[in-house]
Amino acid sequence: MIKRTTTKVTYRASSDIAFIKYWGKKNKTLRLPENGSLSMILNGLDTVTTVEFSQKLSKDDITIEGESDAKEVIRVVRHLDRVRALAKIELFAKVVSENNFPKATGLSSSGSGFAALTYAATRAAGLKLSEKEASILARQSSGTACRCICGGFVEWLDGETSPTSYSESIFPANYWDLRDVVVVVGEQKKKISSTRGHKSARSGKFYSVRQQHISEKIRRLKKFIKKKDFTNFGELVETEALEFHSILLTSQPPIIAWHPGTVEVMLAVQELRSHGLEAYFTINTGFNVHVLTLPKHEQQVRKKLESLPLVQKTLLAKVGEKPVEIKNHLF
Ligand code: PMV
Repeated sequence: MIKRTTTKVTYRASSDIAFIKYWGKKNKTLRLPENGSLSMILNGLDTVTTVEFSQKLSKDDITIEGESDAKEVIRVVRHLDRVRALAKIELFAKVVSENNFPKATGLSSSGSGFAALTYAATRAAGLKLSEKEASILARQSSGTACRCICGGFVEWLDGETSPTSYSESIFPANYWDLRDVVVVVGEQKKKISSTRGHKSARSGKFYSVRQQHISEKIRRLKKFIKKKDFTNFGELVETEALEFHSILLTSQPPIIAWHPGTVEVMLAVQELRSHGLEAYFTINTGFNVHVLTLPKHEQQVRKKLESLPLVQKTLLAKVGEKPVEIKNHLF
């Protein structure tokens, strides 16, 4: 093993929202997904991570949001091990990471977290990966992170092998000015992690039906994005979210991700449309809701949703860029 001199590196990466969801893994260790997925990177839901490998450390020193949660630490150390193996170094690392949005509530903090970690750790270890290589590496730590390595509108190609399962930007961030009003109805940790959910993905009888149609759905959604056809785009995204949750509800054991506030927001979004405010919801495995809309409706949509009794607050996201290196280190 080479003992290379390393530097302190900080990256900021954004989370994403999947329009067509990745659900189920065909290879657990490599995190190869059962199906491809499409998402938009969210500028406004960001993680900043600083990494430094050092000869002075006798073990990895990891702090996420001011805490060293044992399960999170194990996952980060496993990813650092992948980076050490690639860079052929034996040094331990100090890692500090902060989000500007609640983690483990269905807002894909693992996506932005592991994308920032992948770039910061590889650069700190003296490696310079291509976007494709970074996406393949990030995928092994978190499926969503495989997409958060890229910018704009992103497709994750499912692939049968590790080298063929990576993400790429299909349209840049400035292609279409969409807005995501992220509606927070709770900040407590969700009860069922996505990692657990992926394991039972195939257990319900509707999963195979979903899989038969998913490539066609991806093809149609790409067409609507290309044409900037918001109505067809939004209807398809909302239908996909409901289909995805019907898979969760009918898996064994069932996963009921929604809180009362989630349902309140879903009904309110459909009501907004009947008053001419075009907006569509989508939800991951948590209870917080992403409401997609156009810039001209954003303020009104936000105001209406913030006035609902069970809504705590909204966060605003625009279409985001790929991760960037920044000079403000966290330690
Ligand atoms: O990357 P994971 O293991 O957190 O799984 C993400 C699963 C969904 O958020 C439900 C869908 C997706 O594609 O982001």
